[in-house]
Amino acid sequence: MLRLTHSMGAVFGTLTVMMAALTPVSADCTREGLLAAANSYIAAQTSGKLDGLNLVAGNFTYQENNKVADIKRGVLSQALKIDLNRSTADTTACASYTMIISSGGSKPYVLATQIRHNGNDTSSIAMIDTIAATTGSLFFNAAQTLKYIQAEDWTTIAAQPESREVLKKAGDAYLDMWTDKNAADSIPWGSPCERVEGSMLTKPCNGALPRGGSAKPNSMRRYVIDETIGSVDVLCAFDSLGDMPDSHEIRMVGGKVKYVHTITV
Ligand SMILES: *[C@@H]1O[C@H](CO)[C@@H](O)[C@H](O)[C@H]1NC(C)=O
Ligand SMILES: *[C@@H]1O[C@H](CO)[C@@H](O)[C@H](O)[C@H]1NC(C)=O
Ligand SMILES: *[C@@H]1O[C@H](CO)[C@@H](O)[C@H](O)[C@H]1NC(C)=O
Repeated sequence: MLRLTHSMGAVFGTLTVMMAALTPVSADCTREGLLAAANSYIAAQTSGKLDGLNLVAGNFTYQENNKVADIKRGVLSQALKIDLNRSTADTTACASYTMIISSGGSKPYVLATQIRHNGNDTSSIAMIDTIAATTGSLFFNAAQTLKYIQAEDWTTIAAQPESREVLKKAGDAYLDMWTDKNAADSIPWGSPCERVEGSMLTKPCNGALPRGGSAKPNSMRRYVIDETIGSVDVLCAFDSLGDMPDSHEIRMVGGKVKYVHTITV
């Protein structure tokens, strides 16, 4: 039988306290891990093959246009020639957001994809959640969208991260404009600022904004917030105008909105 003397107990107690202090309190994901997983997704979409994706065994969810679907029958199982890809990382939520534009094939696509992980383990993927706009989607013209997005400046401003709360508030206020007449004026619009909605370009951003009028809030909001880039992407069901699968991405620079992207099916 093991009996601790009083002083041994004190030593063990001190060790326990020291070890607790050494254990990181935050279980945040690494940016590198999140972007590596996003890149494995981009590679899979390029080849149309799923073998390179490390999906959580037994508990992986594939969602396309707000509905749980079979990954083998989704857009991810089609090889796409990718013209543009851009990813952001949410180290707190352990999720990433990737935009993909494929304009050349017989079926062009603009994809908005959030990837989620279990805990902080980015080595495997727990969920792939895609809004897949194609011919027939709202204001859809992939080649035109590509032109606008390519011209944007998404370089990282490392010295000036945006606040997570401010980013989330901007994303929510944007989606609330259809139900809340005061939401549009609560958003810190930048100058210059442009909106790319499908293939439609609007600048400045605060021209022709909705001011309430719908009784139905946009629902099912899923967020990827990247403070370093200053971006928030919200996937949702755009219920204010009828149940449409939708992605709204906002980039802020210096606390002001600079870009808004809308991908709506
Ligand atoms: C992930 O979380 C665990 C605790 O849940 C922690 O021990 C580990 O250091 C974390 N890893 C990273 C990369 O943050
Ligand atoms: C399965 O995934 C869901 C959603 O990601 C999560 O809430 C749940 O805890 C997971 N279950 C197991 C057994 O890991
Ligand atoms: C994704 O974008 C990066 C950065 O622009 C580029 O280097 C890479 O080749 C792209 N990947 C694909 C599959 O197009």
